[in-house]
Amino acid sequence: MTSPSYPGPTSNEVQAHRGASAIAPENTIAAFRTAAEAGAKWVELDVALSADGTLMVIHDDTVDRTSSGQGPLGELTAAQIGALDGGAWFDARFADERIPTLAETIAALGELGLSANVEIKQHKHHKSLDQLVRAVQADIARRSAKTDIMISSFDAEALKAMAALEPDLEMAMLWVRPPDDWEARLEAIPAKTIHMHFKALSIGLLEETSKRGIKVRAWTCNDPVQLVSFWDAGLTGVITDDPKVFLG
Ligand code: G3P
Ligand code: CA
Repeated sequence: MTSPSYPGPTSNEVQAHRGASAIAPENTIAAFRTAAEAGAKWVELDVALSADGTLMVIHDDTVDRTSSGQGPLGELTAAQIGALDGGAWFDARFADERIPTLAETIAALGELGLSANVEIKQHKHHKSLDQLVRAVQADIARRSAKTDIMISSFDAEALKAMAALEPDLEMAMLWVRPPDDWEARLEAIPAKTIHMHFKALSIGLLEETSKRGIKVRAWTCNDPVQLVSFWDAGLTGVITDDPKVFLG
């Protein structure tokens, strides 16, 4: 639980991981709405291409875990994916939820007043990096004035390609634990943000990144106690399945 002296994050520093995925089915409009209701200003979401080149908001490279259907994304069209039940696997109350396209999600975020950390997934069925990043660029171009966008990826090449198209957007390199040469690797993108696993955080790293003007956010942390000592050291934000525990 938080206390009045808890040096925790503001609403702008909390990103709901795949939406409020502890409360509602991940990467659905219900999960994004739940995040907004919890007071989050940002959601993190995952994108990947369907067989017919539409960006879908989904974490895995198959629909098996998070829908009523089965099969690889690379063999299913957007219409086929969109027809599946994307919520009952989580709870019967969410049986009307669908796996949304990124375009549908961007429209919903505008209505909810949310901003988004768009994580570009690099799956084996993605044959063209150029096609992937141009699809992201086209969909985010339709965001409302209320929606800020940042891009993250475990794939430095995807970030490089995206940074070339959209140099003004924040790019976040995803690492479980930053490599020793993190500074050079960020410069090569170029990016000024690291998203890393919260268990790999250290005060020493945060002092180094802060000195160099690099932002660090921690994923996926659902317990504010784990981060208490890191905010004063320069932690920029948290990515959490349950934004309420940080904002409640
Ligand atoms: O943004 C951090 C986090 O989303 C990365 O891991 O597997 O949940 O996409 P994953
Ligand atoms: Ca993600």
